[in-house]
Amino acid sequence: MKKYGNGKSSAKIIWFGEHSVVYEQPAIALPLSAVSVSAQISFNENNEPSRIYSRYYDGLWRQLPRELAGIKQMVIKILSRFDKADQAFTLTIESEIPSERGMGSSAATAVAIARATFNLFDKNISRNQLLQYVDIEEQITHGNPSGLDAATASSKWPIWYVKGAENMQLDMNLAGAFLVIADSGIKGKTSEAVANVSDQMTTDYDKTNSIIMEMGQIASAVPPLLLNNDIDELGNLMNANHNCLRQLHVSNQQLDKLQRVAVLAGAKGAKLTGSGLGGCLIALSDSAQNASLVAKQLEKHGATKTWIQPLGQF
Ligand code: MEV
Repeated sequence: MKKYGNGKSSAKIIWFGEHSVVYEQPAIALPLSAVSVSAQISFNENNEPSRIYSRYYDGLWRQLPRELAGIKQMVIKILSRFDKADQAFTLTIESEIPSERGMGSSAATAVAIARATFNLFDKNISRNQLLQYVDIEEQITHGNPSGLDAATASSKWPIWYVKGAENMQLDMNLAGAFLVIADSGIKGKTSEAVANVSDQMTTDYDKTNSIIMEMGQIASAVPPLLLNNDIDELGNLMNANHNCLRQLHVSNQQLDKLQRVAVLAGAKGAKLTGSGLGGCLIALSDSAQNASLVAKQLEKHGATKTWIQPLGQF
């Protein structure tokens, strides 16, 4: 066993297919390596009680707030696997990922902690094992997650994801393209948004299901466009996907405004990303110059933070 275990993970962006992925439609998502979270864990000496240091909560592990109940259960499960459930520890989490902004903060944090704990025991963790542990956290934090956040946060590559099926790495050839990510400044509400869509499925199945199917068709049209560098059509599909999400009532005025601002600033397309009802917007640019113009315009119209992700690096 080592003295310290370290693990890392990153934010994620859902490019196409949030919400429809919950209903077994395909989704496409990217890890954002520039926005990361790291975890370090060590066992305590001298009978010191378990403690956590993090942006979410600093203090005794036994007084962990309810919002971190998922993390707690996951850590207990992993320590039990190594027969160390009663061993006191210190866990430190450093995260650049804004919470509740649709960037997968909870799943990414769980990935980093699971990796750190396996690293402490000097053991490798397979991707499947990792996803099973993170699912313990995500089920408690988000209710009925598709698994997309965890799959993306644990990947180095853009992925094609279908719930319950093996996810696949996507090949891309988008040399001159950039994704601008803008924080709307409003907290997203994953479980509320997912429950809203589920209610609509119950009360108006035909209409809701046809929007979900349309989003599935949009995502299915994307892989060849990624290979052929067809930025114009990708942008059109992002606008169409945003429109579907609006019809599902998971957008809001600020996200709709930022979507229009991005397109007016010359983005090829833009859409909300993640669960919606707040969170982030993404916009596709065909040059670094346009990406920084779009980011500036979004900030001028209320985005509290922006990031630019070159797509050529994948
Ligand atoms: C949340 O990041 C994405 C949703 O599709 C929910 C899920 O996939 O579990 C809204």
